Amino acid sequence: MQVIDTLSELRLARKGLSGTIGLVPTMGALHAGHYALMEQARGENDQVIATIFINPLQFAPTEDLSTYPRDLPNDLKLLESAGVDLVFTPTPAIMYPADFQTAVEVSRIAQGLEGGQRPGHFRGVTTVVSKLFNLTQPDRAYFGQKDAQQVAVIRRMVYDLNFPLEVVVCPTVRAEDGLALSSRNAYLTSEQRQAAPVLYRAMRSAGDAYDQGERDPNRLRAILEAIVEAEPLADLEYASITNAQTLAELQQPTDQAMLLSMAVRIGRARLIDNLLLPLSLNDRSGLSIALANPEYQ
Ligand code: PAJ
Repeated sequence: MQVIDTLSELRLARKGLSGTIGLVPTMGALHAGHYALMEQARGENDQVIATIFINPLQFAPTEDLSTYPRDLPNDLKLLESAGVDLVFTPTPAIMYPADFQTAVEVSRIAQGLEGGQRPGHFRGVTTVVSKLFNLTQPDRAYFGQKDAQQVAVIRRMVYDLNFPLEVVVCPTVRAEDGLALSSRNAYLTSEQRQAAPVLYRAMRSAGDAYDQGERDPNRLRAILEAIVEAEPLADLEYASITNAQTLAELQQPTDQAMLLSMAVRIGRARLIDNLLLPLSLNDRSGLSIALANPEYQ
């Protein structure tokens, strides 16, 4: 496994790679969710490139850029064991030299949900991901359902800007109690960690109601809210029921696929999670249909 941190080395290494290339962009502090993306990329491509870069552009000044968990030695061990060929670990000065003045911005689909709570966040994501696509020129790029709006925004960008690659979505990897794995789970104390599965519990309850025929988004939203509000350590930021493809907030009952998503603060951690309804859509093949805009196919 080659570990590279300059643009010139990356260009040289990229020229030496042949066959299909899978890219897995990350911010490090890697866990089994990231590992699953690497494994899927390994199975579908001749070469796998992983990137580790805590992208300052996607953090607001009030957010956790300075304390975001970092553990490069451990990350490299995990990437080596996943069979990654090349790891790119640039510094902020390499990605954003002093006079940097360009951004890539997706509009409507980036505005609600996380985009509403974190202004400028997706502009930072799409700018860095465009740079990583240009630098590594992958055939496929791998992203987790955990960040469902990020997938939708990147898919829109890839389609609109004609990036010659396929976006692949991988199911959310969870702890046994349902908590979605996240680098930010490291912020939780043990008491907070015990409260954290409340997101999944709330979404599964709404999923059960859906299975029993409930199609009213307002009632499904009320189930999410009631369960989170009953957990004293949890502070609900939003609970949302949207159309799974457009991410438009739903008000009327519908049989179309829905995306439940939520952001909850527990102590220092801001946790996000989501689930597609019907529940059968949350596997690999369901995801690739449900989270895509029909015009892309
Ligand atoms: P990061 O949070 O490190 O996540 C990297 C990738 O891993 C993302 O595609 C994310 O959705 C996926 N991921 C995280 N937790 C997961 C889980 N429990 N199960 C499955 N996949 C999971 O997302 C980012 O970094 C950044 O925004 C990035 C795309 C790298 C741009 O800076």
